[in-house]
Amino acid sequence: MLYRPLGRTGLMVSEIGFGAASWWGKPQFSEREALGLVHAAIDGGVRFFDTGASYSGGHAEPRLGRALKGRDVSGLVVATKAGTFAKGGRVGRDFSPAAIIASAERSLKALGLEVPPLLQLHGPSVEELDRLADTMAGLKGRGVARAVGVNSFDPAVIDQALGLPQIDVVMVDYNVLRPEREPLIARAAAADKGVLAGMPLAMGHLTPRKVRAPRDLWYAARGRLRHRREMEAAARFGFLNGLPQMTAAQAALAYVLANPGVACAVVGATRLGHLRENLAASGLALPPQAREAIRAAQRALSR
Ligand SMILES: NC(=O)c1ccc[n+]([C@@H]2O[C@H](COP(=O)([O-])OP(=O)(O)OC[C@H]3O[C@@H](n4cnc5c(N)ncnc54)[C@H](OP(=O)(O)O)[C@@H]3O)[C@@H](O)[C@H]2O)c1
Repeated sequence: MLYRPLGRTGLMVSEIGFGAASWWGKPQFSEREALGLVHAAIDGGVRFFDTGASYSGGHAEPRLGRALKGRDVSGLVVATKAGTFAKGGRVGRDFSPAAIIASAERSLKALGLEVPPLLQLHGPSVEELDRLADTMAGLKGRGVARAVGVNSFDPAVIDQALGLPQIDVVMVDYNVLRPEREPLIARAAAADKGVLAGMPLAMGHLTPRKVRAPRDLWYAARGRLRHRREMEAAARFGFLNGLPQMTAAQAALAYVLANPGVACAVVGATRLGHLRENLAASGLALPPQAREAIRAAQRALSR
């Protein structure tokens, strides 16, 4: 596993991070398997774990805490998010300063770590971000967060974060379907912000999914209901599944990690085989023909 600096935070993170979200955090997914994946990730060199207060109906964050209990976490960077919360099967949002502070304090307890997490605002508006910048810096000052960031898929919010000295890190949606994020990532790196790439496998839509277990039905239903455009776009990258040198997931990760502005690609996986395949992508170079084919598919999509 290779490691990269996370902007100016002084933290080093593994190129491949572990996304503790979605099916991984759900009670329907076995605790033994979920914890086993985290332990395998640590053994495989993963040093960055990402979760959120609202992830998996609120179950992901305490589960990650249980997975890390009793482990040597001194070299790990654990990230969580505030501003959204899970209630009655739905995700709510509250970006008042009081709610952010209360959420950060709950996260600290739920994760049970001696070293505080990296705290990110989870999808604020530009105005909410501006209003909360000092609150976030205050949480860092009080030792409730070790660094602070913003996770947003809205480029205007990320651009605003780049001008805020209080914000250390940004998490953007970046994968082969999102080349338009590249100028934003370059600006973020130039502003010394740590850049995390969320959804590097485009939520798994780049590889054909065989329905073998309930999680496959859940991911397929999520895609059909909420990410139909991504699924259609991903179909144009089907050639990634036929590369001789690497799997489609590895090629997708190699694409993201070829961007020097990215510190870490945060991947969600609930199968050990997938996790191992993803960890093996660290250090892989995308063959030039594959890069050209990706660029051609991106040009076709933008027309
Ligand atoms: N999605 C969002 O809206 C969002 C928002 C903010 C932050 N994030 C962060 O980004 C992380 C990743 O996002 P994500 O989980 O949506 O998307 P992702 O990492 O792009 O994709 C996860 C999906 O890819 C599949 N997968 C993983 N490794 C694979 C492999 N080697 N071959 C084939 N399929 C593979 C997983 O299947 P299996 O489960 O079967 O392994 C799962 O269905 C999250 O965990 C979270 O920390 C996501």
